[in-house]
Amino acid sequence: MKVAVYPGSFDPITYGHLDILKRGAKIFDKVIVAVLINSAKQPLFSVEERKQMITEAISQTEYGVPVEVDSFEGLLVDYLRDKDIHVILRGLRAISDFEYELQIASINRKLANDVETIFLMTNNMHSFISSGSVKEIAKYGGDVTDLVPSHVVTALREKADYV
Ligand code: PNS
Repeated sequence: MKVAVYPGSFDPITYGHLDILKRGAKIFDKVIVAVLINSAKQPLFSVEERKQMITEAISQTEYGVPVEVDSFEGLLVDYLRDKDIHVILRGLRAISDFEYELQIASINRKLANDVETIFLMTNNMHSFISSGSVKEIAKYGGDVTDLVPSHVVTALREKADYV
């Protein structure tokens, strides 16, 4: 069984992430979306809120294979090792992502050479979406309805500072 972990901050999940997930699910027998618990970062949404938003988003699509939502703390390769998984799934939007992704993938390979990172090129339609820009647009009252699922739009509105 080919299982992939799709890790990220997902603060919040966007249509760009969901596109990668949908296409990843065509390649793997199971995909685990793993939200990073990062105490050094100040996310807008708590890990539980992010997991809930992802769970709701994936319930709206038929993936054809199991898609699970989980969280992890510490090194990604340790999480993979614990679960005996050897593939990391990541999306690449533009050349600007490349350096960051190359660094993460290279570090992960150094830490665990039995782990491969598979990149999918984000659909052009979504290549400009990032969680950061979604939060900024929402913060200033801009329209994010084409960028994130409707329950995420609602969640963004509910964050007092982001109305
Ligand atoms: O959505 P993001 O913030 O770009 O995701 C980055 C993520 C979560 C994939 C990366 O920061 C990560 O795996 N962090 C866990 C700590 C770790 O394993 N670090 C070593 C590789 S840089």
